[in-house]
Amino acid sequence: MSKKTIIVSNRLPVTVNKNAEDGSLSFHPSSGGLATGLSTTYKQGGNLWIGWPGTYGHDDQEKVHIEKELKKDNMAPVYLTKEDVNKFYEGYSNKTLWPLFHYFTEYATYEKELWDSYIHVNELFLQAILEHAEPEDTIWVHDYQLLLLPGMLREALPDATIGFFNHIPFPSYEIFRLLPWREETLEGVLGADLIGFHTYDDMRHFLSSVNRLLGYDSSLGLVKVKNRLVSVDAFPMGIDYDKFEQAADSSKTKQKVIAYGDLLSKNKSILSIDRLDYSKGIKHRLLGFDKFLSKYPEYQGEVSLILLVVPSRDKVDQYQHLKEEIDTLVGKINGKYSRMNWSPIHYFYRSFSFDGLSALYKASDVGLVTPLRDGMNLVCKEYVASKTDQQGVLILSEMAGAAKELSEAILINPNDENQIVEALHNALTMPEEEQRSRMKEMQKKVRRYNVHRWVEIFMNQLDNIKEKQMAMN
Ligand code: UDP
Ligand code: G6P
Repeated sequence: MSKKTIIVSNRLPVTVNKNAEDGSLSFHPSSGGLATGLSTTYKQGGNLWIGWPGTYGHDDQEKVHIEKELKKDNMAPVYLTKEDVNKFYEGYSNKTLWPLFHYFTEYATYEKELWDSYIHVNELFLQAILEHAEPEDTIWVHDYQLLLLPGMLREALPDATIGFFNHIPFPSYEIFRLLPWREETLEGVLGADLIGFHTYDDMRHFLSSVNRLLGYDSSLGLVKVKNRLVSVDAFPMGIDYDKFEQAADSSKTKQKVIAYGDLLSKNKSILSIDRLDYSKGIKHRLLGFDKFLSKYPEYQGEVSLILLVVPSRDKVDQYQHLKEEIDTLVGKINGKYSRMNWSPIHYFYRSFSFDGLSALYKASDVGLVTPLRDGMNLVCKEYVASKTDQQGVLILSEMAGAAKELSEAILINPNDENQIVEALHNALTMPEEEQRSRMKEMQKKVRRYNVHRWVEIFMNQLDNIKEKQMAMN
Protein backbone atom coordinates (compact mmCIF):
# COMPACT_ATOMS: atom_id res chain seq x y z
CA MET A 1 0.00 0.00 0.00
CA SER A 2 1.22 3.49 -0.73
CA LYS A 3 1.82 6.03 2.00
CA LYS A 4 -1.31 7.99 2.88
CA THR A 5 -2.21 10.83 5.19
CA ILE A 6 -4.95 10.18 7.73
CA ILE A 7 -6.64 13.37 8.87
CA VAL A 8 -8.40 13.00 12.20
CA SER A 9 -10.79 15.54 13.67
CA ASN A 10 -13.85 15.37 15.87
CA ARG A 11 -16.15 16.71 13.16
CA LEU A 12 -16.04 15.30 9.64
CA PRO A 13 -16.40 17.79 6.77
CA VAL A 14 -19.77 16.14 6.12
CA THR A 15 -22.56 16.05 8.70
CA VAL A 16 -25.29 13.39 8.60
CA ASN A 17 -28.86 14.42 9.37
CA LYS A 18 -31.70 12.07 10.18
CA ASN A 19 -35.16 13.20 9.14
CA ALA A 20 -37.36 13.08 12.26
CA GLU A 21 -40.46 12.11 10.28
CA ASP A 22 -39.41 9.43 7.81
CA GLY A 23 -35.99 8.51 9.30
CA SER A 24 -34.18 9.14 6.00
CA LEU A 25 -30.52 10.16 6.12
CA SER A 26 -29.09 13.19 4.32
CA PHE A 27 -25.49 14.41 4.04
CA HIS A 28 -24.52 18.10 4.30
CA PRO A 29 -21.24 20.05 4.30
CA SER A 30 -20.17 20.94 7.86
CA SER A 31 -19.62 24.56 8.93
CA GLY A 32 -16.56 25.78 10.80
CA GLY A 33 -13.06 26.66 9.72
CA LEU A 34 -11.46 23.26 10.22
CA ALA A 35 -13.92 21.40 8.01
CA THR A 36 -14.19 24.06 5.28
CA GLY A 37 -10.46 24.85 5.25
CA LEU A 38 -9.26 21.30 4.71
CA SER A 39 -12.16 20.16 2.58
CA THR A 40 -10.24 20.05 -0.69
CA THR A 41 -7.04 18.49 0.65
CA TYR A 42 -8.19 15.13 1.95
CA LYS A 43 -9.83 14.10 -1.28
CA GLN A 44 -6.43 13.71 -2.94
CA GLY A 45 -4.93 10.25 -3.58
CA GLY A 46 -5.65 7.56 -1.05
CA ASN A 47 -5.92 9.96 1.89
CA LEU A 48 -8.54 9.39 4.54
CA TRP A 49 -10.46 11.62 6.99
CA ILE A 50 -11.64 9.97 10.21
CA GLY A 51 -14.21 11.76 12.38
CA TRP A 52 -17.67 11.97 13.89
CA PRO A 53 -20.53 12.37 11.40
CA GLY A 54 -22.44 14.66 13.79
CA THR A 55 -25.33 12.39 14.86
CA TYR A 56 -25.99 9.43 17.14
CA GLY A 57 -28.29 6.47 17.62
CA HIS A 58 -27.93 4.70 14.27
CA ASP A 59 -28.87 1.05 13.79
CA ASP A 60 -26.64 -1.36 11.87
CA GLN A 61 -28.41 -0.78 8.58
CA GLU A 62 -27.98 2.98 8.86
CA LYS A 63 -24.32 2.53 9.76
CA VAL A 64 -23.74 0.50 6.60
CA HIS A 65 -25.40 3.27 4.57
CA ILE A 66 -23.35 6.02 6.28
CA GLU A 67 -20.07 4.14 5.84
CA LYS A 68 -20.78 3.51 2.17
CA GLU A 69 -21.59 7.17 1.48
CA LEU A 70 -18.61 8.50 3.42
CA LYS A 71 -16.22 6.04 1.80
CA LYS A 72 -17.01 7.51 -1.63
CA ASP A 73 -15.29 10.68 -0.43
CA ASN A 74 -12.41 9.07 1.52
CA MET A 75 -14.03 9.39 4.94
CA ALA A 76 -14.61 6.94 7.78
CA PRO A 77 -16.87 7.51 10.79
CA VAL A 78 -16.29 7.31 14.52
CA TYR A 79 -19.72 6.83 16.14
CA LEU A 80 -20.53 8.53 19.41
CA THR A 81 -23.40 7.58 21.70
CA LYS A 82 -25.87 10.11 23.08
CA GLU A 83 -23.91 10.03 26.36
CA ASP A 84 -20.61 10.67 24.54
CA VAL A 85 -22.14 13.63 22.73
CA ASN A 86 -23.44 15.00 26.01
CA LYS A 87 -20.32 14.50 28.10
CA PHE A 88 -17.45 14.59 25.64
CA TYR A 89 -18.67 16.97 22.91
CA GLU A 90 -21.12 19.34 24.60
CA GLY A 91 -19.43 18.71 27.96
CA TYR A 92 -15.66 18.61 28.24
CA SER A 93 -14.91 19.93 24.72
CA ASN A 94 -17.38 22.81 24.73
CA LYS A 95 -18.07 23.57 28.39
CA THR A 96 -14.49 23.17 29.62
CA LEU A 97 -11.85 23.49 26.90
CA TRP A 98 -13.54 25.87 24.47
CA PRO A 99 -14.38 28.59 27.05
CA LEU A 100 -11.07 28.19 28.87
CA PHE A 101 -8.94 28.39 25.73
CA HIS A 102 -10.92 31.45 24.56
CA TYR A 103 -10.35 33.21 27.91
CA PHE A 104 -14.00 32.89 29.01
CA THR A 105 -12.94 31.41 32.34
CA GLU A 106 -16.26 32.26 33.97
CA TYR A 107 -18.02 29.89 31.54
CA ALA A 108 -15.68 26.91 32.09
CA THR A 109 -16.80 23.95 34.22
CA TYR A 110 -14.45 21.31 35.58
CA GLU A 111 -16.16 17.97 36.13
CA LYS A 112 -14.39 14.63 36.53
CA GLU A 113 -17.25 12.82 34.77
CA LEU A 114 -16.76 14.96 31.66
CA TRP A 115 -13.00 14.45 31.74
CA ASP A 116 -13.50 10.65 31.94
CA SER A 117 -15.73 10.83 28.90
CA TYR A 118 -13.08 12.88 27.07
CA ILE A 119 -10.51 10.12 27.72
CA HIS A 120 -13.00 7.49 26.57
CA VAL A 121 -13.82 9.23 23.28
CA ASN A 122 -10.15 9.95 22.51
CA GLU A 123 -9.68 6.17 22.92
CA LEU A 124 -12.53 5.52 20.48
CA PHE A 125 -10.70 7.66 17.93
CA LEU A 126 -7.50 5.71 18.64
CA GLN A 127 -9.27 2.42 17.89
CA ALA A 128 -10.71 3.81 14.64
CA ILE A 129 -7.27 4.96 13.49
CA LEU A 130 -5.69 1.60 14.34
CA GLU A 131 -8.21 -0.06 12.03
CA HIS A 132 -7.01 2.01 9.08
CA ALA A 133 -3.36 2.98 9.68
CA GLU A 134 -0.37 1.37 7.98
CA PRO A 135 3.12 1.83 9.49
CA GLU A 136 4.26 4.27 6.80
CA ASP A 137 1.20 6.53 7.02
CA THR A 138 1.20 10.06 8.40
CA ILE A 139 -1.47 10.70 11.02
CA TRP A 140 -2.55 14.33 11.36
CA VAL A 141 -4.76 15.00 14.38
CA HIS A 142 -6.74 18.24 14.62
CA ASP A 143 -8.03 20.43 17.38
CA TYR A 144 -8.97 20.69 21.03
CA GLN A 145 -11.43 17.80 21.12
CA LEU A 146 -8.54 15.36 20.61
CA LEU A 147 -5.69 16.67 22.77
CA LEU A 148 -4.99 13.23 24.30
CA LEU A 149 -4.99 11.35 21.03
CA PRO A 150 -1.36 12.04 19.94
CA GLY A 151 -0.11 10.55 23.25
CA MET A 152 -2.38 7.50 22.90
CA LEU A 153 -1.20 6.99 19.33
CA ARG A 154 2.44 7.28 20.37
CA GLU A 155 1.97 4.49 22.90
CA ALA A 156 0.22 2.24 20.41
CA LEU A 157 2.49 3.06 17.44
CA PRO A 158 5.86 4.25 18.86
CA ASP A 159 7.41 4.96 15.44
CA ALA A 160 4.41 6.58 13.76
CA THR A 161 4.62 9.99 12.12
CA ILE A 162 2.12 12.11 14.02
CA GLY A 163 1.21 15.76 13.48
CA PHE A 164 -1.11 17.80 15.67
CA PHE A 165 -2.73 21.13 14.87
CA ASN A 166 -4.66 23.27 17.35
CA HIS A 167 -7.24 25.42 15.55
CA ILE A 168 -8.23 27.52 18.56
CA PRO A 169 -6.11 29.87 20.68
CA PHE A 170 -3.74 28.33 23.21
CA PRO A 171 -4.16 30.46 26.35
CA SER A 172 -1.42 31.92 28.48
CA TYR A 173 -0.08 29.82 31.37
CA GLU A 174 -2.10 31.83 33.90
CA ILE A 175 -5.29 30.62 32.23
CA PHE A 176 -4.21 27.13 31.21
CA ARG A 177 -3.11 26.24 34.73
CA LEU A 178 -6.73 26.51 35.90
CA LEU A 179 -7.40 23.16 34.20
CA PRO A 180 -7.38 20.32 36.75
CA TRP A 181 -6.02 17.87 34.14
CA ARG A 182 -3.37 20.21 32.74
CA GLU A 183 -0.34 17.89 32.93
CA GLU A 184 -2.10 14.94 31.29
CA THR A 185 -3.35 17.28 28.56
CA LEU A 186 0.11 18.58 27.72
CA GLU A 187 1.61 15.05 27.79
CA GLY A 188 -1.14 14.01 25.36
CA VAL A 189 -0.33 16.73 22.85
CA LEU A 190 3.41 16.05 23.15
CA GLY A 191 2.85 12.57 21.73
CA ALA A 192 2.99 14.27 18.31
CA ASP A 193 6.22 14.84 16.37
CA LEU A 194 5.10 18.27 15.20
CA ILE A 195 2.64 20.54 17.01
CA GLY A 196 1.19 23.48 15.10
CA PHE A 197 -0.62 26.64 16.16
CA HIS A 198 -2.04 29.52 14.11
CA THR A 199 0.09 32.21 15.73
CA TYR A 200 3.44 32.72 17.35
CA ASP A 201 1.69 33.81 20.58
CA ASP A 202 -0.22 30.52 20.83
CA MET A 203 3.01 28.62 20.34
CA ARG A 204 4.77 30.69 23.01
CA HIS A 205 1.92 30.10 25.48
CA PHE A 206 2.06 26.37 24.87
CA LEU A 207 5.83 26.18 25.36
CA SER A 208 5.60 28.23 28.51
CA SER A 209 2.98 25.84 29.99
CA VAL A 210 5.07 22.84 28.95
CA ASN A 211 8.06 24.34 30.72
CA ARG A 212 6.31 25.44 33.88
CA LEU A 213 4.08 22.40 34.34
CA LEU A 214 6.23 19.57 32.99
CA GLY A 215 9.69 21.09 33.29
CA TYR A 216 10.68 20.47 29.63
CA ASP A 217 12.88 23.22 28.18
CA SER A 218 12.69 24.27 24.57
CA SER A 219 15.09 25.85 22.16
CA LEU A 220 13.98 27.30 18.82
CA GLY A 221 10.68 25.44 19.10
CA LEU A 222 12.30 22.07 19.79
CA VAL A 223 11.34 20.23 22.98
CA LYS A 224 13.08 17.10 24.22
CA VAL A 225 10.42 14.77 25.62
CA LYS A 226 11.94 11.63 27.16
CA ASN A 227 14.66 11.41 24.50
CA ARG A 228 12.25 12.18 21.67
CA LEU A 229 12.51 15.49 19.84
CA VAL A 230 9.20 17.32 19.32
CA SER A 231 8.88 20.38 17.12
CA VAL A 232 6.44 23.22 17.91
CA ASP A 233 5.74 26.02 15.45
CA ALA A 234 3.26 28.58 14.12
CA PHE A 235 1.48 27.89 10.80
CA PRO A 236 -1.23 30.46 10.04
CA MET A 237 -3.94 28.55 8.20
CA GLY A 238 -5.08 29.79 4.79
CA ILE A 239 -8.11 29.21 2.58
CA ASP A 240 -8.65 27.68 -0.83
CA TYR A 241 -8.08 31.07 -2.49
CA ASP A 242 -8.75 30.01 -6.07
CA LYS A 243 -12.09 28.48 -5.10
CA PHE A 244 -13.37 31.76 -3.62
CA GLU A 245 -11.83 33.94 -6.31
CA GLN A 246 -13.31 31.87 -9.13
CA ALA A 247 -16.68 31.55 -7.43
CA ALA A 248 -16.90 35.34 -7.02
CA ASP A 249 -17.01 35.82 -10.81
CA SER A 250 -19.02 32.70 -11.62
CA SER A 251 -22.47 32.78 -13.17
CA LYS A 252 -23.92 30.97 -10.11
CA THR A 253 -22.76 33.77 -7.80
CA LYS A 254 -24.02 36.44 -10.20
CA GLN A 255 -27.42 34.73 -10.27
CA LYS A 256 -27.50 34.65 -6.47
CA VAL A 257 -26.64 38.36 -6.27
CA ILE A 258 -29.55 39.06 -8.61
CA ALA A 259 -31.82 36.72 -6.62
CA TYR A 260 -30.95 38.51 -3.37
CA GLY A 261 -32.22 41.71 -5.03
CA ASP A 262 -32.70 44.62 -2.62
CA LEU A 263 -30.68 42.90 0.11
CA LEU A 264 -27.47 43.70 -1.73
CA SER A 265 -28.38 46.33 -4.29
CA LYS A 266 -30.63 48.91 -2.63
CA ASN A 267 -28.50 50.19 0.24
CA LYS A 268 -24.90 49.93 1.32
CA SER A 269 -24.42 46.61 3.12
CA ILE A 270 -22.30 45.52 6.04
CA LEU A 271 -21.71 41.76 6.24
CA SER A 272 -21.40 39.71 9.42
CA ILE A 273 -20.95 35.91 9.25
CA ASP A 274 -20.17 33.55 12.15
CA ARG A 275 -21.26 30.42 13.92
CA LEU A 276 -23.36 31.34 16.94
CA ASP A 277 -20.60 31.64 19.53
CA TYR A 278 -19.84 33.99 22.42
CA SER A 279 -16.20 34.12 21.26
CA LYS A 280 -17.31 35.84 18.04
CA GLY A 281 -18.39 39.13 19.63
CA ILE A 282 -21.79 39.22 17.89
CA LYS A 283 -23.43 41.19 20.73
CA HIS A 284 -20.64 43.79 20.74
CA ARG A 285 -21.06 44.13 16.99
CA LEU A 286 -24.79 44.74 17.31
CA LEU A 287 -24.31 47.30 20.07
CA GLY A 288 -21.67 49.03 17.95
CA PHE A 289 -24.03 49.13 14.96
CA ASP A 290 -26.80 50.57 17.14
CA LYS A 291 -24.50 53.33 18.34
CA PHE A 292 -23.30 53.99 14.81
CA LEU A 293 -26.88 54.58 13.58
CA SER A 294 -27.51 56.89 16.48
CA LYS A 295 -24.27 58.88 16.15
CA TYR A 296 -24.47 59.11 12.34
CA PRO A 297 -28.24 59.32 11.67
CA GLU A 298 -27.62 60.21 8.02
CA TYR A 299 -26.94 56.46 7.51
CA GLN A 300 -30.43 55.48 8.69
CA GLY A 301 -32.26 54.30 5.59
CA GLU A 302 -28.94 54.08 3.71
CA VAL A 303 -27.03 51.14 5.18
CA SER A 304 -28.08 47.66 6.38
CA LEU A 305 -26.34 44.98 8.38
CA ILE A 306 -26.65 41.47 6.96
CA LEU A 307 -26.30 39.28 10.03
CA LEU A 308 -25.75 35.61 9.24
CA VAL A 309 -25.55 33.45 12.35
CA VAL A 310 -24.94 29.75 11.78
CA PRO A 311 -26.53 27.49 14.46
CA SER A 312 -23.88 25.84 16.61
CA ARG A 313 -23.74 23.71 19.80
CA ASP A 314 -27.34 24.55 20.57
CA LYS A 315 -27.64 22.09 23.47
CA VAL A 316 -25.01 24.01 25.48
CA ASP A 317 -26.51 26.58 27.92
CA GLN A 318 -24.23 29.48 27.02
CA TYR A 319 -25.09 29.11 23.36
CA GLN A 320 -28.83 28.99 24.09
CA HIS A 321 -28.62 32.17 26.18
CA LEU A 322 -26.60 33.90 23.51
CA LYS A 323 -29.22 33.04 20.89
CA GLU A 324 -31.90 34.65 23.05
CA GLU A 325 -29.76 37.74 23.63
CA ILE A 326 -29.05 38.16 19.93
CA ASP A 327 -32.73 37.70 19.02
CA THR A 328 -33.65 40.37 21.57
CA LEU A 329 -30.98 42.82 20.46
CA VAL A 330 -31.84 42.45 16.77
CA GLY A 331 -35.50 43.01 17.61
CA LYS A 332 -34.68 46.11 19.65
CA ILE A 333 -32.51 47.68 16.97
CA ASN A 334 -34.96 46.89 14.18
CA GLY A 335 -37.83 48.17 16.31
CA LYS A 336 -35.96 51.38 17.06
CA TYR A 337 -34.84 52.38 13.55
CA SER A 338 -36.93 50.50 10.94
CA ARG A 339 -38.86 52.45 8.33
CA MET A 340 -41.64 51.26 6.06
CA ASN A 341 -39.14 50.65 3.26
CA TRP A 342 -35.93 49.91 5.21
CA SER A 343 -34.69 47.59 7.97
CA PRO A 344 -31.35 48.16 9.65
CA ILE A 345 -30.65 44.43 10.18
CA HIS A 346 -31.41 41.45 7.95
CA TYR A 347 -31.00 38.52 10.32
CA PHE A 348 -30.55 34.90 9.17
CA TYR A 349 -30.21 32.11 11.72
CA ARG A 350 -29.21 29.22 9.46
CA SER A 351 -26.34 28.17 7.24
CA PHE A 352 -26.00 29.32 3.64
CA SER A 353 -24.90 27.38 0.56
CA PHE A 354 -21.46 28.06 -0.84
CA ASP A 355 -22.94 30.09 -3.74
CA GLY A 356 -25.01 32.10 -1.27
CA LEU A 357 -21.94 32.90 0.82
CA SER A 358 -19.96 33.79 -2.27
CA ALA A 359 -22.68 36.27 -3.34
CA LEU A 360 -22.74 37.92 0.09
CA TYR A 361 -18.94 38.22 0.17
CA LYS A 362 -18.77 39.52 -3.36
CA ALA A 363 -21.52 42.15 -3.20
CA SER A 364 -21.35 43.57 0.34
CA ASP A 365 -19.55 46.86 0.96
CA VAL A 366 -18.05 46.18 4.38
CA GLY A 367 -16.97 42.93 6.08
CA LEU A 368 -17.39 43.30 9.83
CA VAL A 369 -15.46 40.60 11.74
CA THR A 370 -15.17 41.37 15.45
CA PRO A 371 -14.37 38.26 17.53
CA LEU A 372 -13.42 38.76 21.17
CA ARG A 373 -11.01 35.86 20.66
CA ASP A 374 -10.50 33.66 17.60
CA GLY A 375 -7.79 31.14 16.70
CA MET A 376 -7.58 32.32 13.09
CA ASN A 377 -10.96 33.30 11.50
CA LEU A 378 -11.31 32.19 7.92
CA VAL A 379 -14.41 34.27 7.15
CA CYS A 380 -12.29 37.42 6.82
CA LYS A 381 -9.90 35.68 4.41
CA GLU A 382 -12.83 34.40 2.32
CA TYR A 383 -14.18 37.96 2.18
CA VAL A 384 -10.84 39.25 0.88
CA ALA A 385 -10.51 36.49 -1.74
CA SER A 386 -14.02 37.17 -3.05
CA LYS A 387 -13.39 40.88 -3.73
CA THR A 388 -12.22 40.43 -7.29
CA ASP A 389 -12.92 44.09 -8.12
CA GLN A 390 -10.92 45.11 -5.03
CA GLN A 391 -13.80 47.21 -3.76
CA GLY A 392 -14.91 46.66 -0.18
CA VAL A 393 -13.47 47.27 3.27
CA LEU A 394 -12.60 44.73 5.95
CA ILE A 395 -12.99 45.68 9.62
CA LEU A 396 -11.18 43.09 11.71
CA SER A 397 -10.70 42.48 15.42
CA GLU A 398 -7.15 42.51 16.74
CA MET A 399 -8.11 39.40 18.71
CA ALA A 400 -8.41 37.19 15.60
CA GLY A 401 -5.31 35.22 14.59
CA ALA A 402 -5.84 36.58 11.06
CA ALA A 403 -5.14 40.15 12.26
CA LYS A 404 -1.43 39.27 12.43
CA GLU A 405 -1.44 38.86 8.64
CA LEU A 406 -4.16 41.28 7.51
CA SER A 407 -2.66 44.52 8.76
CA GLU A 408 -4.31 46.52 5.94
CA ALA A 409 -7.76 45.86 7.38
CA ILE A 410 -9.23 48.48 9.72
CA LEU A 411 -8.09 46.81 12.94
CA ILE A 412 -10.16 47.38 16.06
CA ASN A 413 -10.42 46.30 19.68
CA PRO A 414 -13.93 44.78 19.79
CA ASN A 415 -14.37 45.74 23.46
CA ASP A 416 -14.24 49.39 22.50
CA GLU A 417 -17.68 50.25 21.10
CA ASN A 418 -16.45 53.61 19.83
CA GLN A 419 -13.82 51.92 17.71
CA ILE A 420 -16.54 49.84 16.02
CA VAL A 421 -18.58 53.01 15.42
CA GLU A 422 -15.69 54.97 13.92
CA ALA A 423 -14.43 51.98 11.91
CA LEU A 424 -17.86 51.67 10.30
CA HIS A 425 -17.85 55.37 9.48
CA ASN A 426 -14.33 55.17 8.02
CA ALA A 427 -15.21 52.10 6.00
CA LEU A 428 -18.35 53.63 4.52
CA THR A 429 -16.53 56.83 3.54
CA MET A 430 -13.26 55.27 2.37
CA PRO A 431 -12.22 56.47 -1.14
CA GLU A 432 -12.26 53.74 -3.81
CA GLU A 433 -8.53 54.09 -4.41
CA GLU A 434 -7.72 53.41 -0.76
CA GLN A 435 -10.09 50.41 -0.73
CA ARG A 436 -8.26 49.05 -3.76
CA SER A 437 -4.76 49.48 -2.36
CA ARG A 438 -5.63 47.88 1.00
CA MET A 439 -7.51 44.99 -0.62
CA LYS A 440 -4.69 44.38 -3.10
CA GLU A 441 -2.12 43.97 -0.32
CA MET A 442 -4.37 41.62 1.66
CA GLN A 443 -5.14 39.56 -1.45
CA LYS A 444 -1.43 39.09 -2.14
CA LYS A 445 -0.96 37.53 1.29
CA VAL A 446 -4.12 35.43 1.36
CA ARG A 447 -3.44 34.14 -2.16
CA ARG A 448 0.17 33.26 -1.35
CA TYR A 449 -0.39 31.59 2.02
CA ASN A 450 -3.37 29.55 0.88
CA VAL A 451 -4.49 26.28 2.46
CA HIS A 452 -2.46 24.16 0.01
CA ARG A 453 0.69 26.02 1.00
CA TRP A 454 -0.26 25.59 4.67
CA VAL A 455 -0.55 21.81 4.28
CA GLU A 456 2.69 21.67 2.29
CA ILE A 457 4.68 23.67 4.87
CA PHE A 458 3.29 21.62 7.77
CA MET A 459 4.02 18.31 6.04
CA ASN A 460 7.56 19.37 5.06
CA GLN A 461 8.29 20.33 8.62
CA LEU A 462 6.91 17.00 9.83
CA ASP A 463 9.33 15.20 7.47
CA ASN A 464 12.18 17.39 8.76
CA ILE A 465 11.57 16.57 12.39
CA LYS A 466 11.40 12.85 11.60
CA GLU A 467 14.79 13.14 9.88
CA LYS A 468 16.22 15.00 12.87
CA GLN A 469 14.91 12.30 15.22
CA MET A 470 16.53 9.58 13.06
CA ALA A 471 19.83 11.44 13.08
CA MET A 472 19.68 11.56 16.89
CA ASN A 473 19.24 7.79 17.28
N1 UDP B 1 -19.57 28.86 6.75
C1 UDP B 1 -20.34 27.83 6.27
N2 UDP B 1 -21.68 28.03 6.13
C2 UDP B 1 -22.28 29.19 6.46
C3 UDP B 1 -21.48 30.23 6.96
C4 UDP B 1 -20.13 30.03 7.10
O1 UDP B 1 -19.82 26.75 5.94
O2 UDP B 1 -23.50 29.33 6.31
C5 UDP B 1 -18.12 28.64 6.84
C6 UDP B 1 -17.29 29.83 6.38
O3 UDP B 1 -17.25 29.85 4.97
C7 UDP B 1 -15.94 29.54 7.05
C8 UDP B 1 -16.34 28.74 8.29
O4 UDP B 1 -17.73 28.44 8.18
O5 UDP B 1 -15.13 28.75 6.22
C9 UDP B 1 -16.10 29.52 9.56
O6 UDP B 1 -14.74 29.46 9.86
P1 UDP B 1 -14.04 30.49 10.82
O7 UDP B 1 -12.59 30.12 10.86
O8 UDP B 1 -14.30 31.89 10.42
O9 UDP B 1 -14.74 30.28 12.25
P2 UDP B 1 -15.07 28.95 13.09
O10 UDP B 1 -16.50 28.65 12.83
O11 UDP B 1 -14.14 27.89 12.63
O12 UDP B 1 -14.86 29.33 14.51
C1 G6P C 1 -14.21 25.58 15.21
C2 G6P C 1 -13.39 24.46 15.80
C3 G6P C 1 -13.65 23.15 15.05
C4 G6P C 1 -15.14 22.86 15.00
C5 G6P C 1 -15.89 24.07 14.42
C6 G6P C 1 -17.40 23.87 14.41
O1 G6P C 1 -13.78 25.81 13.93
O2 G6P C 1 -12.02 24.80 15.75
O3 G6P C 1 -12.98 22.08 15.66
O4 G6P C 1 -15.41 21.72 14.23
O5 G6P C 1 -15.60 25.22 15.19
O6 G6P C 1 -17.86 23.51 15.68
P1 G6P C 1 -18.60 22.14 15.98
O7 G6P C 1 -18.75 22.10 17.46
O8 G6P C 1 -19.90 22.25 15.25
O9 G6P C 1 -17.76 21.03 15.45
